[in-house]
Amino acid sequence: MTTLAPIGATPQPGSTTRKSFGKTPDGQPVDLYVLTNKSGAEASITNYGGAVVSLKVPDRNGKLADVALGYDTAGGYVNDKAYFGAIVGRYGNRIGHAQFVLDGKTYTLAKNNGENSLHGGIKGFNKAVWTAKILSTEGGQSLELSYLSKDGEEGFPGNLKVSVIYTWTDADALQVEYSATTDKETVVNLTSHSYFNLAGQSSGDILGHLLMIQAEKFTPVDADLIPTGELRDVAGTPFDFRKATAIGARIDQDDEQLKLGGGYDHNFVLRRSADPVESLAARVVEPTTGRVMEVWTTEPGVQFYTGNFLDGKTAGKGGVAYPRRSAFCLETQHFPDSPNQPKFPSVVLKPGERYHTITTYKFSIEK
Ligand code: GLA
Repeated sequence: MTTLAPIGATPQPGSTTRKSFGKTPDGQPVDLYVLTNKSGAEASITNYGGAVVSLKVPDRNGKLADVALGYDTAGGYVNDKAYFGAIVGRYGNRIGHAQFVLDGKTYTLAKNNGENSLHGGIKGFNKAVWTAKILSTEGGQSLELSYLSKDGEEGFPGNLKVSVIYTWTDADALQVEYSATTDKETVVNLTSHSYFNLAGQSSGDILGHLLMIQAEKFTPVDADLIPTGELRDVAGTPFDFRKATAIGARIDQDDEQLKLGGGYDHNFVLRRSADPVESLAARVVEPTTGRVMEVWTTEPGVQFYTGNFLDGKTAGKGGVAYPRRSAFCLETQHFPDSPNQPKFPSVVLKPGERYHTITTYKFSIEK
């Protein structure tokens, strides 16, 4: 059972507490929800942008560390340009030329990434104040966040009703369940943009983390990081993570795709099981602490991003700096620019249909 402790109470195992996290520039109050599981591991989530603010999980000696990058107050998220921990939408990742055709009509979006649209536009879901509700769940703590993205918001058609349910389980798994419905044909691609460092946030670079991605192919990009449409074999390239390999082992190789991304910033085509349940997408091991994170998802793709644009200039939690490549993201998703790529799996949502995807980040340890 979830019990709601009063604002300001110290988190107890098996509880959810709510506290003030500050205000938006127009004065709306924003909260921080601290979900503490039975073993004392903790996930903190704000209803500003639906962001995962911190994730405190044990190492092989039982020592908790916060493995997610973020900010101490809502103000940090208001100014954020890196999408730390956020729910990204209506369309996560890029749409080429900030334009697409749907049902014979051309829709034009704001260009917020060169000539292209990135992560939902200028005011994406990461800058919205979501309505939060604590749910009663067996085996963990759950928080439901809801948001209505109005018809025409950031150029997208249709009133889109979105719900994201975060469940922090007693087994140290963060499940993210996304649902959406629309009243007009639209495109939807929601993701979670957590930046992880399994040694602990602000503990140096992530180049020594060992990564496995269950992908035979990836989607190569052009100079704007828009997929060319090709599905390229990972075999024989620095994109082959079918066997666990250090993230830094090949990151600076003389490879055209790595140069275009400034490192890894690419969508991988996931190996899927036939039924629509979650499949294992990726597994990451941090050898010095023994922390392990597995990513399970119903989605067809995952963007592996090595924090190439982090520059150490923005102060994060506790005033620390986050230098280049001090975290990695595994953003489960449909492929970038799908609205303009007829051969990619469809991202179209029609009235009467329900968008529904699940991604789970499972934390454990390896001795
Ligand atoms: C995604 C993109 C990156 C970058 C980050 C946010 O991972 O693919 O290019 O824009 O988001 O900084």
